[in-house]
Amino acid sequence: MKGKMMKRKLNKLYLLAAVAVTVQCSVNVLAAEKDEVDPRRVIPLYKRHCAICHGLDGKGETTGGEKAGVLDYTDPKVGEKLKDIKKATLSVSMGMKDKEGKMLMAPFERKLKPAEIVALVKYLEKFSKPQKDS
Ligand code: HEC
Repeated sequence: MKGKMMKRKLNKLYLLAAVAVTVQCSVNVLAAEKDEVDPRRVIPLYKRHCAICHGLDGKGETTGGEKAGVLDYTDPKVGEKLKDIKKATLSVSMGMKDKEGKMLMAPFERKLKPAEIVALVKYLEKFSKPQKDS
């Protein structure tokens, strides 16, 4: 009898612990979404996911970029496109296709958080602006 009671109590404890962990995780996720991305992470993220096409300098003079037809984001006229941050963020998260439906840029929604995509679009936009020291 006593053993059974103990077991029940333990089960209850495990359940509580599991609930606590779950709650903590969702709190972390929410915090991350609201949070600004740590600025130190932006360049590494750009290098990892974007530079292969858009180039480290935003010019898009890369094999992948030339094949896909990336524009030169150091050109202020091209940079203008990124002013509509919502649209640009959406393009990155949903991906872009040309008129024939050929994939130009793969969707990043599963790889990057919305806040990370926003930070990366802003980073890309910087190439077309006179560089301030930062
Ligand atoms: C496979 C090559 C490729 C990769 C990788 C890639 N892009 Fe692109 N991207 C393109 C092409 C092609 C276009 C369409 C032409 C253009 O605007 O340069 C484009 C367009 C864009 C646009 C303009 C969207 C619009 O609405 O006009 C943004 C912003 C952008 N990319 C950001 C990014 C970011 C941020 C990353 C990394 C997370 C990334 N791209 C990775 C190829 C790529």
